[in-house]
Amino acid sequence: MADTTPPPLLTVRDLGVTFPTPRGPVRAVDSLSFDVPHGRTLGIVGESGSGKSVTSLAVMGLHTGAEVTGSVALDGRELVGLPDRELNRLRGRRMAMIFQDPLSSLHPYHTVGEQIAEHHRVHFGTRRAAARARAIEALAEVGIPEPKRRAGAYPHQFSGGMRQRVMIAMALVCEPDLLIADEPTTALDVTVQAQILDLLARLQQERRLSVVMITHDLGVVARVAHEVLVMYGGRAVEQAPVDALFAAPAHPYTRGLLDSLPRLDDPDDVPLRAIPGTPPSLLDPAPGCAFAPRCARAAAGTPEERNRCADERPVLTGRDGRTAACHFAALPAVAHEGTAP
Ligand SMILES: Nc1ncnc2c1ncn2[C@@H]1O[C@H](COP(=O)(O)OP(=O)(O)OP(=O)(O)O)[C@@H](O)[C@H]1O
Ligand SMILES: [Mg+2]
Repeated sequence: MADTTPPPLLTVRDLGVTFPTPRGPVRAVDSLSFDVPHGRTLGIVGESGSGKSVTSLAVMGLHTGAEVTGSVALDGRELVGLPDRELNRLRGRRMAMIFQDPLSSLHPYHTVGEQIAEHHRVHFGTRRAAARARAIEALAEVGIPEPKRRAGAYPHQFSGGMRQRVMIAMALVCEPDLLIADEPTTALDVTVQAQILDLLARLQQERRLSVVMITHDLGVVARVAHEVLVMYGGRAVEQAPVDALFAAPAHPYTRGLLDSLPRLDDPDDVPLRAIPGTPPSLLDPAPGCAFAPRCARAAAGTPEERNRCADERPVLTGRDGRTAACHFAALPAVAHEGTAP
C-alpha cells in the first residue's frame, strides 16, 4: 500500500548553533535532527543548559551573532539563511513562540487588547476595529473572563496565569501552524500550570496545531507530548513516542531523569535521586559520550566498555522514531506501535 502520510510540518536536519565567545566557540547545539508532524506535539526535555532554548530560537530564526548550520524547513521551505524581512513575515503568521516569562514579551504601556490587535493588523492589514474585535475573541478563546473589559487592561493588572493566557492568545491570534512553547508554565503554581497545559492541548487539537513543548519537567511531557526528544549537552540522546519513553527509557540519562521524578509511594525520608555530577562543558567537548562521566551504566561497565564510552561518541541508532545515542542502549527489538496517529 502506498504511504499516504503527509510530510511533517517542521523538519530539522543536522542543526548546529555555535556562539563565538572570548573563551572560544561554544557549540550549544550539535547535529540535531527532528520532525514535527501536523497536529502533533513534540516535547523537548533536558536539564538546564542542554540547548533547548537555543534550538527553539534557531527554528524561529532569532539568533543574531551565532553561526547556524544545517536545515530548518517549515512546510518544505528552508528557513536557515532566509533574509530577516521574510522571516518576519513567517514569524507570528506561520510560526509563533510563547516564552517562559510573559512580562518580558508584553509591552507595559499598552493594553493587552491593543497588543494582540496590533499583531493581527501587522500580519493581515486588518482595520483597527476589526483587529480589536479579533483580539477580544482571542482573549475569550483562552478563557479570559469578561474579555471585552479585560482587553483594556495593562499586563501588570493580570495574574501570572492570566498573563500566560494572554501570551497564548497573542501567539495564536494569527492562526500559525507551528507553536513553540519554551517552558510556558515553569513560573506558575501547579494548578494554574495544569490549566494552561490543558488549554494548550485543547487548542492544539481543535486547530491541528503542531507544537514544540520545551520543558525540563517530564510531568509536562507526559501530559501533552506525543513524541519526545531528550537533549544532553546540545545533542539528542533519545527520541521516542511518549509512552514508549516512559515505559522503557533506552538511554541511561533518560532513565536518570525518570528516576529523579518524585513518586507517591516513596517513604518521606528517602531523598530525591538526582543525577550526580554537572552538565558537560560546551567549550571543550570530550571526544566520547558527553554523559559518560555521570553515567551509571558506564561506571558499571568493564574497563573496555568504560574506555569506549570515554573515547567514542555514540551516534543515534534505532528506527521508527525510537532512537538512542548510547553504546549500550536498551532499545527494544521491535518498534513501539502504540502512538501512531
Ligand atoms: N548568546 C549566547 N552566547 C554564548 N553562549 C550561549 C548563548 N546563548 C546560550 N548559550 C549557551 O548555550 C547553552 C544552551 O543554552 P540554552 O539556553 O539553550 O539552555 P536550555 O536548555 O534552554 O536551559 P534552561 O533549562 O536553563 O532554559 C548554554 O550553555 C548557554 O550558556
Ligand atoms: Mg531555556
